[in-house]
Amino acid sequence: MTKPRRVLITAALPYANNHPHLGHVAGVYLPADTYNRYLRLKGVETVFICGSDDHGVPVTISAQNENSTPEEVVSRYRGIQEKVFGSLGISFDHYSGTSTCEGHAELSQEFFSKILKRGDIEEKVTQQFFCDPCQRFLPDRYVEGTCPHCGAEGARGDQCDACGKSYEQEELKDPECAVCKGTPQIVPTRHWFFRLDRYEERLEEWLKSCEGWRDNVRNFARGIVREGLPARSITRDLEWGVPVPLEEAKDKVLYVWFDAPIGYISFTREHFVNQGNPDGWKDWWVDPDVELVHFLGKDNIIFHAVIWPAMLMGQGEYHLPTSIPANEYLNFKGEKFSKSRGVGVTAEEILERFDADRVRYYLTAVAPEGKDTSFTWEDFIQRNNDELSDVVGNFAHRMLTFTAKNFDSKVPMNAGDSQLRDEILSVIREAREKWDDSLGRQKFRDALDRVLTLARHGNRLFDQAEPWKSRKEDLDRCGADLAALLEVVHAIGVLLSPFLPSTSEKMLSAFSQCAPEPAEVLKSLGECEVLTAGGELSPPGIVYPRLELEEDQD
Ligand code: MF3
Ligand code: ZN
Repeated sequence: MTKPRRVLITAALPYANNHPHLGHVAGVYLPADTYNRYLRLKGVETVFICGSDDHGVPVTISAQNENSTPEEVVSRYRGIQEKVFGSLGISFDHYSGTSTCEGHAELSQEFFSKILKRGDIEEKVTQQFFCDPCQRFLPDRYVEGTCPHCGAEGARGDQCDACGKSYEQEELKDPECAVCKGTPQIVPTRHWFFRLDRYEERLEEWLKSCEGWRDNVRNFARGIVREGLPARSITRDLEWGVPVPLEEAKDKVLYVWFDAPIGYISFTREHFVNQGNPDGWKDWWVDPDVELVHFLGKDNIIFHAVIWPAMLMGQGEYHLPTSIPANEYLNFKGEKFSKSRGVGVTAEEILERFDADRVRYYLTAVAPEGKDTSFTWEDFIQRNNDELSDVVGNFAHRMLTFTAKNFDSKVPMNAGDSQLRDEILSVIREAREKWDDSLGRQKFRDALDRVLTLARHGNRLFDQAEPWKSRKEDLDRCGADLAALLEVVHAIGVLLSPFLPSTSEKMLSAFSQCAPEPAEVLKSLGECEVLTAGGELSPPGIVYPRLELEEDQD
């Protein structure tokens, strides 16, 4: 017996000080959810893991600005995130958080200790920025300056958003304390460094052997490895975080980017513990046949495609990522979405006005897969109207009302006698195969477009068949054509399900008496008729009425 295929899917852990905005949703969470739904539809076993990234400076800065504590910030934002993801239909198996997950700190410390024992972590006295007025070291986001690589301003102590490079903070030019804007002093302090240079060859080998990756991800990662990997500091002078498991580092914590990805493992373990199967997680992390797929935005590539794999190699017990479908950015009026700078639209804002599937539809249609793309309200309304309402909704509505009027809401008999039958089956088969191929390669836009093309084709075939004429001249032929066309409506319902779960459910509810469940029927789409002749249809009404652009949406 062959083992069933298993895929562990993760979505980058959002910092616990973030309202998810549409850029995050389009680039990370929505494609991850769509992929998960697609695999489950195909009968693949999956586990879909996410949670908040609680440690590190983003959270302590928020706590300070809000006159609050990191714990309070974490719990409030985690609630917001879970609610937003839930209302978008993003269905994680488990949503946890790095500061509360049982065993997360211990597992992170174990990674550190194991890599240390191997001799791949070394201790060094380094010069760090210290702010006198604030009386604190300024790691990571506490300091801002000019990127040593690309010269962009507003670069942080650990990474530049403009060019995606990461570096040690003493390389940052013109440093400034992010809180008081003062110029920091340089003070010596002891830190621990991960000797990434010792992993260069293995990483290069591994990156070379990975198949089916997006070019942007692989080329970026290989480029970084080829430039040479300096040792990276993985400890910080902060109070908030996972304590460094060494007597001589009692007042230090692990760098947030060291403990965060370990959350993928600790959350999986917590998920299985909650299921009453405390050892179940091991299989998913140890068995090399399990595929591990990390969804993330492009600013996270270096961590997931270079540093995290090196950590996994150093730890040695778990398998490496299988693929890392990273996206570019979805922009708003030419700028990156940012809640803090007030650019763009948060998920909460759009969901107050529109239902989740309209948002899912548009964000997939403009997904920033190969390059940055833009969100605009006009385009949102237009694509909803021209595609979701006029193509998908309209086609389903036409077919179902025609059947209701003329065939008593039953699937007419003898689809096999329709002159369109062969063409219809081959159109469905082609759509299903291309949809499958695209989704399998994580090309979500393309896969969604295939479904639209199928609906357009269906509308054309309906017009060509002219059933409103044949209804009067030859009712049998009219019924046969319609039965064949209803196969298209049903196929669209099935193929939309990973993208638009509630629309799909609504469309398929029309067929609940006359078609097998989506997962059972998927493989047969386009191979033969799948609807039961004579079966009852229950028309779902208009699926997507057209939208109007409101005045304030610009
Ligand atoms: N919190 C990070 C960000 O929003 C992503 C962390 S992903 C993980 O950029 F791998 F570290 F978990
Ligand atoms: Zn830069």
